[in-house]
Amino acid sequence: MKYLITGGAGFIGTNFIYYMLEKHPENEYVCLDKLTYAGNLANLKKAMEYKNFQFVKGDITDREFVFNLFEQEKFDVVVNLAAESHVDRSIENPGPFLTTNVLGTQVLLDACRKYGVVRFHQISTDEVYGDLPLDRPELKFKESDPLKPSSPYSASKASADLLVLAYHRTYGLPVTISRCSNNYGPYQFPEKLIPLMIINAMNEKELPVYGTGQNVRDWIYVTDHCEAIELILEKGRVGEVYNIGGNCEKRNIDVVKMIVQKLGKSEELIRFVKDRPGHDLRYAMDISKMKEEFGWEPKVGFEEGIERTIEWYKANKEWWKEIINGEYMEYYNRTYGHMY
Ligand code: NAD
Ligand code: TYD
Repeated sequence: MKYLITGGAGFIGTNFIYYMLEKHPENEYVCLDKLTYAGNLANLKKAMEYKNFQFVKGDITDREFVFNLFEQEKFDVVVNLAAESHVDRSIENPGPFLTTNVLGTQVLLDACRKYGVVRFHQISTDEVYGDLPLDRPELKFKESDPLKPSSPYSASKASADLLVLAYHRTYGLPVTISRCSNNYGPYQFPEKLIPLMIINAMNEKELPVYGTGQNVRDWIYVTDHCEAIELILEKGRVGEVYNIGGNCEKRNIDVVKMIVQKLGKSEELIRFVKDRPGHDLRYAMDISKMKEEFGWEPKVGFEEGIERTIEWYKANKEWWKEIINGEYMEYYNRTYGHMY
C-alpha cells in the first residue's frame, strides 16, 4: 500500500512516520509538507534513509500540485495531518487556519475523489466539541456530541470534519476521522504548553501560565495517538468518527509544577499572565468506542511520558535552540511581551 502523509514534518506527523516505518515496513510512504514555521525537515533525516520513504515539499492548498502528485503516485491511503495547529496564532491571525485547515482539506478530498483511495483519514481534535465546565467531572465528550468550537483554530478543524463527512455521505468517499486530545512528546514545537515550559525552565526563564492555571487538558503521549491511528486505518469503519484520549486530565498549573519539579527548578519561575481570549476550560474524552471496537487504551502514563519528553528535550538541545533563535522569538515577544 502507498500512503500519503501530509504534515509529516510537524510534531505528530514525524512521530507517526517513524511509528509506521517501524511497524509496517511493507508499505511505501510519501510525506507532503509545506515546511511552515512548524515543519522541520531535520525531523525526517533518519526517515530519508528508508527506501520506502520519500519527502515532497508542497502545499495542500495548491490544487494543481496536489492533483499531479496523486496522478503520479497513485496513493492507496491518505492521512491528513497538515494544519495550522496553534490556538494563540489563530487568535492573532485566523486567515491561514481557514486556508490550510479547511480549503487544504477540500483539495485533498477532491484529489481522493478523482484518483480513488481506499481510505482518507482526517486527524482532528477534541477542541471541535468546545469545552466542558470545571465543576462537572462526570461529563466527557462523545463522538455524537454537537460541534461547538471556541477558537478560529478549532472552528477551522470542525469545518474540515464536516466537509470530510459530507464527502462520505454525498460521494461515498471512504473516510474516517479521529479526534484526539492534547499530545505531548518528542519533536513538539515549543509554542505548545509542555515543550515551552520544559525549555523555559531549563533556561531559567519565566513560566507564563494563562489566567489562574485551573484549565484542564487531557494529555496523551504521542505514540499512543499513533497506535490509535494505525488501528483506525486497519479496522475503522468508514464514515465513522473515533475519539482518542489519554485518560489523563490535568490542570495546567499541575503540569507546570511537575515539569519544574522534575527539572529541579524553583516554582518562583511561574508567572500568572493575562488569560487567552475565549480560553476553553476543560477537555475530557469518552474513549469507550476505541476500547470497544479495537480494545485500544493509552499505554504511557503521564509521569513516564513527561520524563521521556524531558529527557528528549535535554538530549536534543540543538533541535530546539535552532527553533528558538529564529521566527519563534518574534512570535514569543509578540504573544507574551504584553502579558505580564
Ligand atoms: P504541527 O503544527 O506540529 O505540524 C503541522 C505540519 O503541517 C507542519 O509540518 C507544517 O509544515 C505542515 N503544514 C502546515 N500547513 C501546510 C500546508 N498548507 N500544506 C502542507 N503542509 C502544511 O502540528 P501537530 O501538533 O503535529 O498536529 C498535527 C495534526 O494533529 C493537526 O491537524 C492538528 O490539528 C491535529 N491535532 C493535534 C493535537 C496536538 O496536541 N498537537 C491534538 C489533536 C489533533
Ligand atoms: P496549548 O499547548 O496551546 O494547547 P491547547 O490550547 O490546544 O489545548 O495549551 C495547553 C493549555 O496550556 C491551554 O489551557 C493554554 C495553556 N497555556 C498556558 O497557560 N501558557 C502557555 O504559555 C501556553 C502555550 C499554554
